[in-house]
This record gives sequence, C-alpha cells and structure tokens, in this order.
Amino acid sequence: MTTRAVVRGVGHYLPAKVVPNAAFEDTLDTSDEWIRTRTGIERRRFAAEGETTSTMAAEAARRALDAAGLTADEVDAVIVATSTPDLTFPSAATMVQSALGMRRGFAFDLQAVCAGFVYALATANALLVAGQARRILVIGAETFSKILDWTDRSTCVLFGDGAGALVLEAQTGAGTAGDRGILACDLHSDGAFRDLLYVDGGVSTGRTGVLRMEGREVFRHAVEKLADTAEAALGQIGLSGADVDWIVPHQANLRIIKATAQRMGVPLERVVVTVQDHGNTSAASIPLALSTGVERGQIRQGDLLVTEAIGGGLAWGAVILRW
Ligand code: ACO
Repeated sequence: MTTRAVVRGVGHYLPAKVVPNAAFEDTLDTSDEWIRTRTGIERRRFAAEGETTSTMAAEAARRALDAAGLTADEVDAVIVATSTPDLTFPSAATMVQSALGMRRGFAFDLQAVCAGFVYALATANALLVAGQARRILVIGAETFSKILDWTDRSTCVLFGDGAGALVLEAQTGAGTAGDRGILACDLHSDGAFRDLLYVDGGVSTGRTGVLRMEGREVFRHAVEKLADTAEAALGQIGLSGADVDWIVPHQANLRIIKATAQRMGVPLERVVVTVQDHGNTSAASIPLALSTGVERGQIRQGDLLVTEAIGGGLAWGAVILRW
C-alpha cells in the first residue's frame, strides 16, 4: 500500500476583463495576426482595480473546495505558487487562509515562476506522503499585468491574469501506475540562465520592476527541456507518451506546446490548450487548464495526465498524475 496525493476538487477564477489582441494595435507596432501566428494567443484577462493575486486565489480555492464538497476547516495547508504576491510579505497563501476563514493549519507561497505549479504539486505530494498534512489546497495565481512593460511589444502581449486551485487528499493506493493521484515528479533548475527571463526590480532595487525576456532563447530551452522532463517523469513509472491521455502543459506559446507534444509522440488532440483564451498566466496556467479541461469534459476520472512547465530561473519540471 502506498500513500497517494489524489485530486478531490478543482476550480478556477478569471477576471471579467477580456483584452483581445487588437487592443494592443493602438499603442504598439504589433498586430492581432502577429500575436496569433507566433503565439496562438487571441485574448487574455486582466485583473480589475482592487483585484489581486490573493483575491483571485481565494476565489479559485472556494470553487475547488465546493467541487470537493469540503470546507476550508477540513484542509490542513495552503500552498500558493506565485511570482506576483500582493505584497513582499506576508505570503499570498496566508491572505488566502484569512479570506477563507481558516484559523488552523499552515500556509506558504512557492516561487518558481512559470514552473511554480509543477513545483507546488511536487511539494504538496511530499507533504502528504510524509503525513505532514491530509489535505492541501494547491493554488497557482498571478497578476502579471502588474509587472509588464507596456512599451515592450515582445513581452506585454504574452501574459494574462488568473488563478486555479486543486484540493489534494492523501489516499491509499496499490502502489502501481494504475493508482489515482500523483505518480511521479521530475524537477530541475539552472540559475546560469537567470538573465534569460527576469523582473528588473524587487527588494534590492526599491521598486517592483517589469518583466524582461530573451524570448527566442527561452523558446529554444523550452522545446529542448519540456519533452525531456516529461519523459523522465513518465520513465520513473515505466510509462511513455503512448500511455498519456492528456498533456496539460504550461500555456506560454502554442508552438512550444505543439513541439513538445510532437517530441513525446502525443497527438495535439490529446493536449489541453487554453493559451488562446488566457495567454501566459505563469504559475496559474496549469491549474487553469486543468479546471478548464474538466469543464470541457476532456479530463475524466482515471485519465493519465502529464503536466509540464518551464519559466524564469530557468526552472522546469513535470508531474504525472492520474485524475
Ligand atoms: N508584434 C510584432 N512584432 C514583434 C512582436 C509583436 N508583439 N514581438 C516581437 N516582434 C518582432 C521582433 O522585434 C522581431 O523583429 P526583428 O526580426 O525585426 O528583430 C521579430 O518579431 C521576431 O522576434 P522573435 O523574438 O524571434 O520572435 P519569436 O518567433 O521567437 O516569438 C516569442 C517571440 C513569442 C516571445 C517566442 O520567442 C516565445 O514564445 N518565447 C518563449 C516565451 C516563453 O515560453 N516563456 C515561458 C516562460 S514565461 C515565465 O516564466 C514568466
């Protein structure tokens, strides 16, 4: 018998404001056509005034709890994967804890940029398997609209805001790849690539700063590393791309998503794609895609899922789970 971190519920929150690509044509030398063909993005959501990472995270968490049929008191921990917390501290996770009226358990943020949700799943899995908690809310939430340079056409058109959440619960499995829950994790980072993707502000500068990216280089690393990490995670449990029901990738660029699926031998029909509607929501993109995939009727109980992501750091990784 093996302890498995099994998904009990999923939910998401998107801000109401939809911004189509054409909205950037007024202020930048860009076009809907360029953005669609180079990225697959058609629109994104931006948070309203007063809407923050923690308020969106709390709403996604409420929806995941509802789907699980649980109350906040029945959860032992909250992990928020984010690079855009409301404040330097306290953590967005403790703000979510407070918004949910949770007075027990523990809450913390985890920062691995676009790979944040994959890192958070691996961390929650370790806590559940170690018996440190019985149920954990794992949330990805971002407000990248607050850290964009609106004069830089090569970055500001790519990102969006939103939040997604899962409730993970420790359950007993047979110890085989047929079990529901998290089956394998593969994490990597290499700080030698720190200058490819970063925010040029923070505590050391006294201002929040804006996102800077060498897009072409990040693209090259993504195509090279994502299929490798996904295959390494599948290999841990003796599986391959042929066994996968759904790839639920980080939603940064449709060309990266297609290239990764192709390298893994998985047809695009078995990939959950939301980048056209959400843009790149960094750590929120995978839980948003999981929740959307369930809403669309794509992801069903028992399906074998691969989640994979790469982002600033560089940090990347993959988690295999049976829904
Ligand atoms: N509109 C029109 N032209 C543009 C735009 C735009 N919005 N942005 C860039 N261009 C121009 C460039 O200036 C360049 O012009 P030049 O040839 O005259 O210099 C030309 O388009 C091609 O630029 P590239 O950067 O080579 O374009 P590319 O096809 O690589 O697409 C993109 C750029 C979309 C950024 C792509 O490289 C990409 O998706 N990179 C990966 C991003 C990513 O995955 N990030 C994930 C992590 S994000 C995180 O962790 C926060």
